[in-house]
Amino acid sequence: MISIAIINGPNLNLIGTREPAIYGKVSLDNYLQSLAEKYKDKASFHCFQSNVEGELINFLHDCRGKMDGIILNAGAYTHTSIAIADAVAAIEIPTLEVHISNVMAREDYRKTSFIASKCVGAISGLGLYGYEAAIGYFLAKKN
Ligand code: DQA
Repeated sequence: MISIAIINGPNLNLIGTREPAIYGKVSLDNYLQSLAEKYKDKASFHCFQSNVEGELINFLHDCRGKMDGIILNAGAYTHTSIAIADAVAAIEIPTLEVHISNVMAREDYRKTSFIASKCVGAISGLGLYGYEAAIGYFLAKKN
């Protein structure tokens, strides 16, 4: 059993109704609950969402010594937050950056990630499935 934190940043609480042509019509909460059920014998998930930068940083700090991996969709903070990037570097827990949409196919300002260089890798454009793909990585890495 591994422990994985799934951390979502600003506006991701609105997935399911927010710009459905980009992000789809399924609520992120419901999707993550279905993953928790599907993987209950293999992993425990600790899900956190906040629209507040400092709360995301505090949660990242709280993961120290507790989590085997972190799945982080920092939303728009990906493209702006040196503080979140510093937190990811500081806690020394393998972190995967996830984006629901393909950020490389969108506006130029989404093509920069302050967080990417602190992460083991990034998944972008696979829709909500990107979270499951990230879980698959941590499960494979454990074996
Ligand atoms: C996002 C992409 C970001 O550019 C955007 O600000 C988001 C969502 C995604 O999951 O595709 O809020 O992180």
